[in-house]
Amino acid sequence: MAILEIQKGDIPILRQKSEPLKCINQGVLQLVEDMFETMTHAGGIGLAAPQVGVSKQVIVVDISPHFPDCPRLVLINPLITDSTGEKLGEEGCLSLPGDRGMVRRASSVTVQALLPSGENTEMKVNHLMARVLQHEIDHLNGILFIDLLRSEDQELLKNEETLEAAG
Ligand code: NI
Repeated sequence: MAILEIQKGDIPILRQKSEPLKCINQGVLQLVEDMFETMTHAGGIGLAAPQVGVSKQVIVVDISPHFPDCPRLVLINPLITDSTGEKLGEEGCLSLPGDRGMVRRASSVTVQALLPSGENTEMKVNHLMARVLQHEIDHLNGILFIDLLRSEDQELLKNEETLEAAG
């Protein structure tokens, strides 16, 4: 396991579309473990491979700081196939330290992906998990949460509030 360097700022690696994985080999499994260690060390709840300089479609999520019973999740080549509702919520990003904002997201999404075992999965998620998955899948498409901010939403952000969720 190793802590990787988190890529920070509005830089090219975070602005390009990442490539789908064709096979899940030992290198990918090592990357996943390193991403979890890096994310936990940085206090995040989600991380996408481009954030550690790897332009591949891999995301890791661990929202157990907020929902202790929720297992950690690795999704490879994830795709949002359906989304419903709309919800405004606060976000930050490990690649944009200090930035935060109120972002409109679908309140529920269906995601298809490969698991590290090589099995296909489809899951419908809501609440925080839906927000984190949308944020991380955006990273795979070169989209940062700052792209989604609308000025009229930002007054809801309370100055004294501390950011609890960053991906
Ligand atoms: Ni992020």
